Amino acid sequence: MTAEFQRLYPSAEGVRVFRAPGRVNVIGEHTDYNLGFVLPMALDMAAYVATAPSGDGKLRIYSEDRKEMREFDAAGLAELAPAHHWTDYPIGVAQEAIRLGFAIEPANLLIRATVPDGSGLSSSAALEVSSALAFLKGRPIEPLELAKLCQRAERNFVGVPCGIMDQYISVFGREHSAVEIDCRSLGHRFVSLPEGVEFIAVNTMVKHALAGSAYKDRVRECATAVEILKTQYPGIESLRDVTPEMFEPAAHLLPDVAMRRARHIVTEDVRVNRFVEASEAGDLAAMGRLLVESHRSLQYDYEVSCEELDFLAEAALAIDGVYGSRMTGGGFGGCTVTMLRAGAAGPFRERISGVYQGRYGIVPRIYDCKPSAGAGECKNFETIPRLV
Ligand code: GLA
Repeated sequence: MTAEFQRLYPSAEGVRVFRAPGRVNVIGEHTDYNLGFVLPMALDMAAYVATAPSGDGKLRIYSEDRKEMREFDAAGLAELAPAHHWTDYPIGVAQEAIRLGFAIEPANLLIRATVPDGSGLSSSAALEVSSALAFLKGRPIEPLELAKLCQRAERNFVGVPCGIMDQYISVFGREHSAVEIDCRSLGHRFVSLPEGVEFIAVNTMVKHALAGSAYKDRVRECATAVEILKTQYPGIESLRDVTPEMFEPAAHLLPDVAMRRARHIVTEDVRVNRFVEASEAGDLAAMGRLLVESHRSLQYDYEVSCEELDFLAEAALAIDGVYGSRMTGGGFGGCTVTMLRAGAAGPFRERISGVYQGRYGIVPRIYDCKPSAGAGECKNFETIPRLV
């Protein structure tokens, strides 16, 4: 990657490379902005940002996959407005860093990403966190502050009212572990998944236009549900505070849509906790069932799935060695995540790819989900993989 950097910016010296991973969420979908629980793992697919001082007052950002160079005056970064372009991620991050009092030095940047775009594997958070590290260049920041800074960039500049999950896991990921995040306390614990199982993501290769607007709708619908439930339970602040026992007698107060949205969140939080318990007990069948229940709840109550995701999640269940399968991430396309017996992955890949092609004429990309370390400086950057 440094060789590439030198080709692009011939006078550059003192190149440093920072990495931040994408993620797959195992269970706990759309619960983060309701301050509930999520269980993602960081992946070995990541965004890498190489940086060196530019020495001429400019901030240049080159994206290798888009083959696109953008140039900005480093002194004017704080005044830039969103351009509805991929550069909004690093620029939004730069603005939030400036707000925290960090000066952004004029620099040349090269971005390489191995997290596939639009896959629901959080390429945006990977880009935000790796850009933030490249701008900070080793200046100290608490890991939680780093995650929050990047979330603010996405909310304030990119304009997506997202929760904290993606940025948090990109910072806090750990090898061999999933991470259970409590999105209210912002604490976490590492969950080692049982021996003998693997997780695989299958990419529908579609992204339906609804994704952005529906996300905002869901955030609003959940807020509506909280307002109405407050008439019964004045102490609640978010759906996180509502247990199934509280929800049931009050559900009739809610209009149908708000009721189903709330029911998903209330039951999904319980599923995350049950999944972690089942994982600790080595109860693979229970884990699989919870994944399937999560998918159905997202499909019918939360309505963020789509035909292709439903097809993949259902088709997976018919394949030998599969315990459970569900959509992962925001929805309306992107990937499913499937839990299966270690060793069953080869035939699974072949079968799922075959049936998906047969139905939609599209070759799905398939990724092994190996829990990986969170963001940091990359010391061994000559070997950074290329996007295939
Ligand atoms: C997107 C958001 C996350 C989270 C998921 C759904 O990835 O960025 O904050 O809400 O959707 O679980």
